[in-house]
Amino acid sequence: MTSQGFIPAGAVATALGRHALALVAQDVRANGIHRIAIPNYHCLTMELPFALEGFRIERVPVGIDLLASPSALATLADPSHLAFLHCEVFGAAPSPQLRAALGTLMGDGAAVIVDGTHRWPLPPRVQGNYYVASIRKFTGLSDGAYAAGGRIGKRGGPRVMPRAQIDAAEQVAWDAGEMDYAEELMDQELVPVAMSGTAREALQRIDVLSLVAHRRANAEILHAALRQAGINPISSDVHFAVAFHHGAAQRLIVNLARAGIDGPVWWPRPSGWQGQWPDDVVTLPTADEPDRVIAALRDAAANES
Ligand SMILES: Cc1ncc(COP(=O)(O)O)c(C=O)c1O
Repeated sequence: MTSQGFIPAGAVATALGRHALALVAQDVRANGIHRIAIPNYHCLTMELPFALEGFRIERVPVGIDLLASPSALATLADPSHLAFLHCEVFGAAPSPQLRAALGTLMGDGAAVIVDGTHRWPLPPRVQGNYYVASIRKFTGLSDGAYAAGGRIGKRGGPRVMPRAQIDAAEQVAWDAGEMDYAEELMDQELVPVAMSGTAREALQRIDVLSLVAHRRANAEILHAALRQAGINPISSDVHFAVAFHHGAAQRLIVNLARAGIDGPVWWPRPSGWQGQWPDDVVTLPTADEPDRVIAALRDAAANES
């Protein structure tokens, strides 16, 4: 499979993951659905496109795997007028119960959206009506994401703004000294914009599968070190990031950052949110040299105690 094949045929390539989610939000809304249930562990960027489309957002508790609680899914009201956003958080596999609950939701008419950002380029682990992934996260490209499903990419479906058009308009406005207008155009980047040609070309030159194999091997070394320290990783069989729960997560994260190790995913509790939120999650990068990460983790844990 070429790298190009990692954006599936029929999908629409956008600059950012939030643009891909915006296309989904628009398509779902066009079908008369304007409520979305989102698990209590996500980044606000995932929620924003639905908020901008006027969705009512409902929260779903998560389990220790950071995925939606299957029993909570079963109590969601009026599923035929509901969308549900399932994110494959850190590449986590859904439990058989969650898989069944998602199947029931879809069977009852809910629009199930699968965000595979942490699983890409591997195929999603669950079926949904829509699929999105921000591919710039894993590849380090300046931009790149895609959306598929519903009427996305079909005549009459939601569309992206051509990249060149918005770039050129911003440039002309800057050159003319019309800074406010240029800023307004940039704000419009919340409107879905196409993936850039530069990033598309770069993606073809990246050996994505080798990158996955390398990062998976690093994840396995990190998992072994965690288990040796008596800590259970949240998910197995992953390549995007390694994650675990820790009672002193916040201090550990700070200690790790001081040692130059930044967790690749950082989803703090949204300000003002009083409900359930896993505040005890620590992530480790799979892109760094694992021995360095393990040494830093040992030091961080020693400084903590
Ligand atoms: C799982 C997930 N989906 C989507 C997004 C949004 O992607 P982007 O930053 O490319 O808009 C993020 C951002 O962190 C993410 O973590």
